[in-house]
Amino acid sequence: MLLLDGKATAQTVREELKKIIATAISAGRRPPGLAVILAGEDPASQVYVRNKEFACTHVGIYVETCRLPESVTEAEVVRCIDRFNQRSDIDGILVQLPLPKHIRPSICLLAIDPAKDVDGFHPENAGKLTLGLPGLRPCTPQGIIELLRRYGLSPRGKKAVVVGRSNIVGKPLAILLAEPLEYANATVTLCHSETCNLANECRQADFLFLAVGKPRFFTASMVREGSVVIDVGINRTPAGLCGDADFEGLKDHVSAITPVPGGIGPMTVAMLLKNTVDAWQGRTSASLKKETEISS
Ligand code: GUN
Repeated sequence: MLLLDGKATAQTVREELKKIIATAISAGRRPPGLAVILAGEDPASQVYVRNKEFACTHVGIYVETCRLPESVTEAEVVRCIDRFNQRSDIDGILVQLPLPKHIRPSICLLAIDPAKDVDGFHPENAGKLTLGLPGLRPCTPQGIIELLRRYGLSPRGKKAVVVGRSNIVGKPLAILLAEPLEYANATVTLCHSETCNLANECRQADFLFLAVGKPRFFTASMVREGSVVIDVGINRTPAGLCGDADFEGLKDHVSAITPVPGGIGPMTVAMLLKNTVDAWQGRTSASLKKETEISS
């Protein structure tokens, strides 16, 4: 069994980004900037945001977090987003989800400038993903494809089964896997809570992607022998963190599997950094173009 080490791979990606940023800074460019909006007290979100801040600082991305109380209004969140939209030193804006219950995520995500939407959740970027047009892609699906690419595991022509239809993971992942890209081109099935005979669908998979949030739910009897299992679940149990896969029961049954923790989680953060660097390069080259247009 091949253990797909997301922690080590994310480290490699971070080192690559760090070099790109350092080279640009020594050539006189300003560093990339990421703004994070964290509203409320969700304990998991606090941890995720701290991880993201730490990762940014490590590679040389300037990061600024706007922490807002649980009682914040939707209009105040939108005003905060808008201030970051206007700032020329901020290339990426991320609204940490979930938001307090009285705030509509759709309204907040729509307020983000699509060129700064480093989570890829704005409808414009979701539309571009669906149409196969260039745009910022959601971090977790992108991190999964990048991990497969770095291990040389292509789902091309294979049966891929995605379990979970969230807007953050399952839906965009299913779309990406079906794209005519080198580490995609799969035949994709998207399963969810209403799927009849889930075990039977999962057993068809050469590549199985789990994103449902059910601790150790997917056991050997539901997984084809020799398949590749990508576990996106992060479940907090009294015994600690675990994924959606029954890792112990699967490790001698599959050909490759991601651990939890240390699998897709770190890859997601690495892709957030990559999207921020891409947005920074896109925006600075766009503003350079504008400058040349004005001066010519
Ligand atoms: N909450 C859980 N995952 C994510 C993510 O990828 N981005 C944001 N903004 N919030 C999340």
